[in-house]
Amino acid sequence: MEVRRRSAKVVTFGCQMNERDSETIMGILSSLGFEESSRVEDADIVIFVTCCVRENAENRAFGNLGEMKRLKEGNPNLVVGMCGCMAQRSDLREIVRARMPWVNLVFGTHNIHRLPELLERVFAGERVVEVWDEPDEVVEGLPAVRAYGHKAFVNITYGCDNFCTYCIVPYVRGRERSRRMEDVVAEVCDLAGSGCVEVTLLGQNVNSYGRGLPPLPSGSSPDFADLLHEVNLVDGIRRIRFTTSHPRDFSDKMIEAVASSEKVCEHFHLPLQAGSDRVLEMMHRGYTAERYLALLDRIREAVPGASITTDIMVGFPGETEEDFQATMDVVRQARFDAAFTFIYSPRPGTVAARMPDQIEDEVKHDRVYRLIDLVNSIASEVNDELCGSIVEVMVEGPSERDPSVLSGRTRTNKMIHWTSEKAHNPGDIVMLRVSQTRTWTLYGEEIEGRSGYRGALTCDGHEAAGEEMQGRTASSSGFATDGRCDCNDV
Ligand code: SAH
Ligand code: SF4
Ligand code: F3S
Repeated sequence: MEVRRRSAKVVTFGCQMNERDSETIMGILSSLGFEESSRVEDADIVIFVTCCVRENAENRAFGNLGEMKRLKEGNPNLVVGMCGCMAQRSDLREIVRARMPWVNLVFGTHNIHRLPELLERVFAGERVVEVWDEPDEVVEGLPAVRAYGHKAFVNITYGCDNFCTYCIVPYVRGRERSRRMEDVVAEVCDLAGSGCVEVTLLGQNVNSYGRGLPPLPSGSSPDFADLLHEVNLVDGIRRIRFTTSHPRDFSDKMIEAVASSEKVCEHFHLPLQAGSDRVLEMMHRGYTAERYLALLDRIREAVPGASITTDIMVGFPGETEEDFQATMDVVRQARFDAAFTFIYSPRPGTVAARMPDQIEDEVKHDRVYRLIDLVNSIASEVNDELCGSIVEVMVEGPSERDPSVLSGRTRTNKMIHWTSEKAHNPGDIVMLRVSQTRTWTLYGEEIEGRSGYRGALTCDGHEAAGEEMQGRTASSSGFATDGRCDCNDV
């Protein structure tokens, strides 16, 4: 007789931190004998990994948790769990405790490793709520079921010490802790050993990596630049990404580390948040618009062809039309490749939520629409300039909309679609000539040509002429780092 294995579904909201936590949660569940279910309806245990960065993220999670009532009625043995950032907030936990009796497990961001024990209690009939206010030491060696084989997130720091005045993250993710460099590198080596070719180093502020770690033999604590150099040495890894960068802490040494580490992709996600110095100060961001723009200049000079993306918020308390225009001005000057735009959402317990002059919804919406129009028109112009260029692309797989079309990402993190006669697997690297551009996506044609890493490209024209470009650097070969070749017309 076939015994059905118990199955579990982890539903993730929020940022990459949660995506990575969900892999650990599924890893633990798998080690307990659960197999991954593709649908909530088929699972014996469903865990929601929640986000509370804005009110609408909370509402979405509550909506999903609410729907579980019906499933639980049909299957009283179903275990419904809630964890993640919302679980860290006592007010939100209380809502679940009092109004959602069908949720029988609540745990937080600091005690994921306790899941086996907590589940045992749930299976014994207890309703379990265990959330730690403070993190313990960094826990290493937890199992993970990775979402992809060819690419992976790797935590480098946990938590955040910045306390930007609008932001809930430091309250729900705790103080900043860096993982030891050898632990990060060991994880990257393991991933490479199992076929992973792209890693994304994760932290709320990757640029403050290393604070508090024991000093290196040189006497100083390791920093983000040191880490990039180390990860760059891992055999088998072909691309290194990192997020999120903090404009205040992005040092010239770090820019240099990106520029000189050939596997590190030339994409910088540098949240601007606002362009008005007055608002930036109220946000506690630690830079001015001028300093931010100067940083972009330094990055673009050191890493030609770099793409720069950002997060921008409108409607921070006290933001005037003039302040908003300052944001629009910085956007015009910065010429972002893409921007995530947000409407400020007051978060209980944060400093900004108590500030006077909260902005009306109507004004916030009007500003965000104007901002989106500007961001889109610039992004579309920036992409237009890529038409005809040659880009190195990592295959992601068939496009979601049309399985006969392939999707991939350039080193600059732009999505590109193309059709190919060849069979490609996720993680393969191919060379494409950009044939059409849209605001958020590129379209290309596959070309013969070998990729190396940055600046070590062989375009079809050069290859036809028998010219070997491998190993030359971007600046010495006349190749821009996005693969644009000076001899595009050959
Ligand atoms: N650590 C990263 C990401 C934080 S959350 C950073 O420093 O940028 C991602 C984005 O959400 C932020 O960049 C910010 O633009 C936005 N955000 C954070 N709190 C918000 C709030 N209360 N209302 C609206 N947007 C918010
Ligand atoms: Fe939030 Fe600021 Fe920390 Fe980013 S750096 S997580 S915006 S407090
Ligand atoms: Fe949300 Fe928590 Fe990330 S609040 S944005 S899931 S750190």
